[in-house]
Amino acid sequence: MSGAAEDTTSAPAAVRDLEPLTTAFRGTVLDPARPQYRRPDGRPYDPEPAMFTRGSAPRPLSAVAGRGATLELADGSELVDLCSMTENTVLGLNDPWVKLRQVSHVLSERPHYVTVRFGNDLYYRVANRLSRHFNETGGGKDYVLNLRECTGSGAVELALHAAWRAARTSPGRRKVASFVGAFHGSNLGGVLVSDHQPERGSGRVLLDRADNTEQFPVPETGPDGRLSAGTLDALATLERDGEQYFAVILEPIPWRNAVHVVPVEFLRRLREICTAKSICLIFDEVQNGFGFTGSIWYGEVSGVHPDISVLGKGLTSGHGALSLIVADRAFGTVESPFGFKSNSANMLSLVAVDAVLDRLLGVAGPDAEALPHWLPTGMEQDLRAGLLSTTYARTVRLVDEMLTVLRHRFPAMVGRAAGTGLMRGLVMLDGDGAPSPAVAGEVARVCTGYGAHVRQAGTALFVKPCLVITRREVERALDALSRTFEAVAGSRAG
Ligand SMILES: Cc1ncc(COP(=O)(O)O)c(C=O)c1O
Repeated sequence: MSGAAEDTTSAPAAVRDLEPLTTAFRGTVLDPARPQYRRPDGRPYDPEPAMFTRGSAPRPLSAVAGRGATLELADGSELVDLCSMTENTVLGLNDPWVKLRQVSHVLSERPHYVTVRFGNDLYYRVANRLSRHFNETGGGKDYVLNLRECTGSGAVELALHAAWRAARTSPGRRKVASFVGAFHGSNLGGVLVSDHQPERGSGRVLLDRADNTEQFPVPETGPDGRLSAGTLDALATLERDGEQYFAVILEPIPWRNAVHVVPVEFLRRLREICTAKSICLIFDEVQNGFGFTGSIWYGEVSGVHPDISVLGKGLTSGHGALSLIVADRAFGTVESPFGFKSNSANMLSLVAVDAVLDRLLGVAGPDAEALPHWLPTGMEQDLRAGLLSTTYARTVRLVDEMLTVLRHRFPAMVGRAAGTGLMRGLVMLDGDGAPSPAVAGEVARVCTGYGAHVRQAGTALFVKPCLVITRREVERALDALSRTFEAVAGSRAG
């Protein structure tokens, strides 16, 4: 990459720096470095797909360790993960601060699990912190929280339930609007409002489709930079038929559409219509929330505030299962059995959310005064300021540079760059220069063999690295992608 500028980030301390805490485990069955599974004859395991439901078996690639954006594979090689372990780990693998906070919780007698019928100061601490943030950045709305879902799918369904519940007194409001290419999860509610579904009509879960879901085209601008005719039509339809709708659900960055970013102008106009027609506007921020666009949620980026936002994934950065909805109080009623998932009472996930907030936004007041004096200096500085202010812009710049170099190096194969912040796309071109899902799929598949992990997003590659990816890791990923493109171009020429 251009120039060998110093990587100025304070590399986060590694979890292994905490080794003195774990010496008692070494060599015993408690030692996590021991191989976890071997065949009865002592050989290391081979992938055994027959054990699993079809489609859920792990791939032959096996990750045995990781730090930041780097994975160590079972054969000793390394892979740069440009998709944050499939979009969750905004802080990379094994964030030392999140782990430290979890370790301190685990070693205490604080409850590791508290059912919803009991309160707990940690639960209130996290709720209070989130509530303050959402209400301070929420454009004057009065937001309430539900922190009792485990998956993004569960939280999407909860949001749909809350919107449906709020429309109870208007029996004419039965429709929900969603958009082409959307994915909102794998449970019944999520599937029914998604477009991106496996094998339509295959009887997925009780129902193939819901007659009250209306799918609109992907909101986009035309070549003149203004909202396209189809997009304006969608707005006009919603304005005309608004009284029939209880909700509109959309992803601000529906990445499966070649990492498309919904125009803010569309969001603004949609907000106006939803307000005027009392439709619940739901942002599904499971992908973009918690850091990937430089903020906790998209209202901070777009200035458009939904009635309900759904967050998951980055929330715990992969250190536990938890998702949430944040809802304007008018849409903030949920009824049993919704909103009370058993495993969401796991305290370690709440510790993780709290620690991820420490990392992203920084710690202040008495917490900052009580930071351990033995923390590595760089980590302490990051914790005082928050990675969104110390590191986000630098990481976005690194990714920009990488995408620019790839476009220059491979003009026949790499088309436009798409996306925003840390959710980026690179359109792949076929031999005729047309955007090609086949080429994107091939590159994503081949790339792991060269040392990087990316995903396919329609005609584009999806690049969604963690916030703490280092310059060295980006350089290695650039090298891996370059060699992949050469190989795929070579096979095309042959
Ligand atoms: C936009 C969006 N919504 C919802 C979900 C569902 O989240 P989960 O897999 O945690 O159930 C996903 C998962 O990828 C997603 O991308």
